[in-house]
Amino acid sequence: MLSRIYHLGYAVEDIGAASRFYRENFGANPGEPEVVEEQGIVATMFRVGESSIELVQPTRPDSPVAKFLAKRGEGFHHVAFQVEDLQKALAELKRGGVELIDEEPRRGAGGTRMAFVHPKSAFGVLTELVELPEG
Ligand code: CO
Repeated sequence: MLSRIYHLGYAVEDIGAASRFYRENFGANPGEPEVVEEQGIVATMFRVGESSIELVQPTRPDSPVAKFLAKRGEGFHHVAFQVEDLQKALAELKRGGVELIDEEPRRGAGGTRMAFVHPKSAFGVLTELVELPEG
C-alpha cells in the first residue's frame, strides 16, 4: 500500500523563521507557503532526496495543529506516506478496524488528496496518506 515516505510534518510557530533556518543552515529550498483553510494551516515543503519535510503553522487557534503546539510545543507532528489509490487504502484500513480521522479523502496542499489515520491506531504516530494528482 505504501510507496514511499512523502513527507515528515513538523509543527512550527513561525513558518517564515523555520524556512529561513533550513535555507540558511541546510541549503534547503522551501517553496511559497500555501494556506489550507479547511485544516487551519499554512504549509511549505522542501525536498530531501525522495521525500520532503513539511513545515506546518496554524492559522487559527482552534485548528488541530494549534492545539498540538499548545500541548506539546514545536517538533515532529506526523508522517505522510504516498499511496496510489487513497480511496482504496482507506476502505482497506476501515475493513481492518483501523481508526481513521478522515474516512473520506480531503484536499491537501498542492492539489493532493489526503487523509489522516488516528495516532491511537498507529502506535502513537499521526499518519497521513497522500495521493498525488495525476501527472
Ligand atoms: Co502533511
